[in-house]
Amino acid sequence: MPGTELFGAEERKEIEDVLSTGIMFRFNHDAQRNNIWKAKDFEAEAKKITNAKYALAVSNGSAAIMAALAAAGIGAGDEVICPPFTYIATIEAILFLGGLPVFAEINETLCLSAEGIEKAITTKTKAVCLVHMCGGNANMDEIMALVNKHNLILVEDAGQAFSASYKGTYTGLFGKAGAYSFDFFKIATAGEGGIFVTNDEATYKLADSFCDHGHDHIGNNRGMENHPIIGFNYRISELHAAVGAAQTRKVPEIRRKNLLNKKFMQQKLAHLPGVGFAKLGDDNGDSGTFLNILMDEPEMAKRVVDELNKAGVGGFNYWFTNMYHFINQWNHIKELKTASKLAIHVIGAPQDYKNLELPKTQNVVGRLISFGIYCNWTEEKMTELADKISACVNKALQPA
Ligand SMILES: Cc1ncc(COP(=O)(O)O)c(C=O)c1O
Repeated sequence: MPGTELFGAEERKEIEDVLSTGIMFRFNHDAQRNNIWKAKDFEAEAKKITNAKYALAVSNGSAAIMAALAAAGIGAGDEVICPPFTYIATIEAILFLGGLPVFAEINETLCLSAEGIEKAITTKTKAVCLVHMCGGNANMDEIMALVNKHNLILVEDAGQAFSASYKGTYTGLFGKAGAYSFDFFKIATAGEGGIFVTNDEATYKLADSFCDHGHDHIGNNRGMENHPIIGFNYRISELHAAVGAAQTRKVPEIRRKNLLNKKFMQQKLAHLPGVGFAKLGDDNGDSGTFLNILMDEPEMAKRVVDELNKAGVGGFNYWFTNMYHFINQWNHIKELKTASKLAIHVIGAPQDYKNLELPKTQNVVGRLISFGIYCNWTEEKMTELADKISACVNKALQPA
């Protein structure tokens, strides 16, 4: 968790700025706030890294993807192609907006493949919600060609991929809108926070209003503002934004160190039999937050995971059995269990979620073991970890 590793004087100073005025609300109060605008600072830092024309800081990454989908025009009855390997927030956001998730296959980039998307397209498909998983990037040339050919809306959930890019364009900025998470586990954290991005002014304005009860944010008297649309409260507080701004300034250095550490670990492990690594759409655009080991076979991966657990090696995710990142465990989604009725209950699900056939995804996620990269790892620490992983792989490969 690189961001949290570097929590220090910079974050404290930003928080103290806010406490010095007591203005924790991101809008208005111009006279009292001593020109302290942390949400704006956080947005400016995110724009500097991603080159987005517009950025909006919000309460969390889930709100950011909700805003991205809403501002892109996704609503009741719209089929949205999405991956079965993502954090559950992606699917929840589609459902709560009234959309209908259509699950498609991923490939070894850990993201939707163009082939998978194409197979899932129906006459009702409105959008693709692409998720850049585990710090990497999807095959954007192929995906953009397909999205353009079928005239689909692209929204990107880059919740795990802030600072990742593809051929010079940052994740989140290929389509209509994108989202990043700054929760506690990301490359940079605000504690809880998210950033919505777009290059389109009208889309930004919709998101800006959507995330604050429809306010147009024109003028300096909140009580007298107009409401072009109905919205909700997804605002970030100035305290969270203060931390987010300080952390985002550290991202270029975090990424640099992450990538060095990832390379070191890959070099240590690459010679092991049965061990490979997840692919990237663009090798130069990785954010370096995860070491994504792809074993040759799912059975082999399971044996390695057993050995890692037996040896007490922590710090990794075996997503195949993870309750919140992989469809196999999403029983509440399969059974559409909700607190209250959603559009999908009225319209009907576009797929039989309980009997989906996604063999490619099952294979890739079954083979995947991801270690979170720490930017402060020493060579000694990495060598120790690589030795432990090697021992576990070698044990797992021995005949029973
Ligand atoms: C891909 C993806 N999307 C969305 C989210 C939601 O972000 P948050 O936890 O900030 O709400 C996450 C968080 O892990 C994520 O990984």
